[in-house]
Amino acid sequence: MKRSVIDITDLTKEEIDALTNVAEDIISNPGKYAHICAGKKLATLFFEPSTRTRMSFEAAMYELGGNVLSMTDAATSSASKGESVSDTAKVISCYADIIAMRHSKEGAALVAANAASIPVINAGDGGHCHPTQTLADLLTIKREKGRLGDLTVGLCGDLKFGRTVHSLIQALSRYENIQIVLISPDELRLPDYVYNDVIIKNNMKCTQTSDLLWALPKLDVLYMTRVQKERFFNEEDYLRLKDSYILTPEKLARAKKDTIVMHPLPRVNEISVAIDDDPRACYFKQVLNGKYMRMALILKLLADNKAIDEVTV
Ligand code: CP
Repeated sequence: MKRSVIDITDLTKEEIDALTNVAEDIISNPGKYAHICAGKKLATLFFEPSTRTRMSFEAAMYELGGNVLSMTDAATSSASKGESVSDTAKVISCYADIIAMRHSKEGAALVAANAASIPVINAGDGGHCHPTQTLADLLTIKREKGRLGDLTVGLCGDLKFGRTVHSLIQALSRYENIQIVLISPDELRLPDYVYNDVIIKNNMKCTQTSDLLWALPKLDVLYMTRVQKERFFNEEDYLRLKDSYILTPEKLARAKKDTIVMHPLPRVNEISVAIDDDPRACYFKQVLNGKYMRMALILKLLADNKAIDEVTV
């Protein structure tokens, strides 16, 4: 049976923990991994803009000794002539060994996975989820805080459309003693399908507020997010909400000395650049950790699909 990752729940907690172990081994012993994917091809199908996710997938495959076929823009592909996602996935299955795909429509990655004969990794589908960003986030939390349980995690900004937040809450629900603090304007609160189906269903401790300054001193992790301009139906609402939260050094002074500041990036205005040199700023570490976790995930899916031997740490 072909194995894809569309949602973070497609991986068990044990598998996520194993992926973080492999990623940490890659960091320590890159040479051991440099040729494992020789002769294999990753296709990156990006129907929606990206810098980090696409390039980190591509860097990941090159660092594993593999090759990359890249579709960087739907406008220059046959999607612009009306080719369906299913047909595209079937076609790419003839050329590559694994697909990483981003699309603006929720569910598009699942459609591709159902049609493809090779593994598909969801690299972000609309406002739904972004499981490999979550893998990057989990490795960052583990490396910076030394644990993935016993944490108070504040998620701030656009919790409605921010797909990275949806996947991260889902992943954190599997760890012990996680307290979630949801910080957003009313209009950008977490969708019910995440709040009810993940937070309530898993009995997670959770507080909702619009007041970042109130929340800050309580947090071990502050996860800032961009207001997702591309998902708004009218510009007026976006302009009114886009600067709801701007983290400045003065505000961060209210946080604990070991609170880490995360952001999936791209950042617009949410975190002042004056914070970049603060040792608590971890958003560029997330970028690098994302590459290592994507390397680990490519290895796992190729091994699960018998395209390479299983990797042991
Ligand atoms: N974090 C993230 O998904 O960034 P990109 O949109 O640049 O891929």
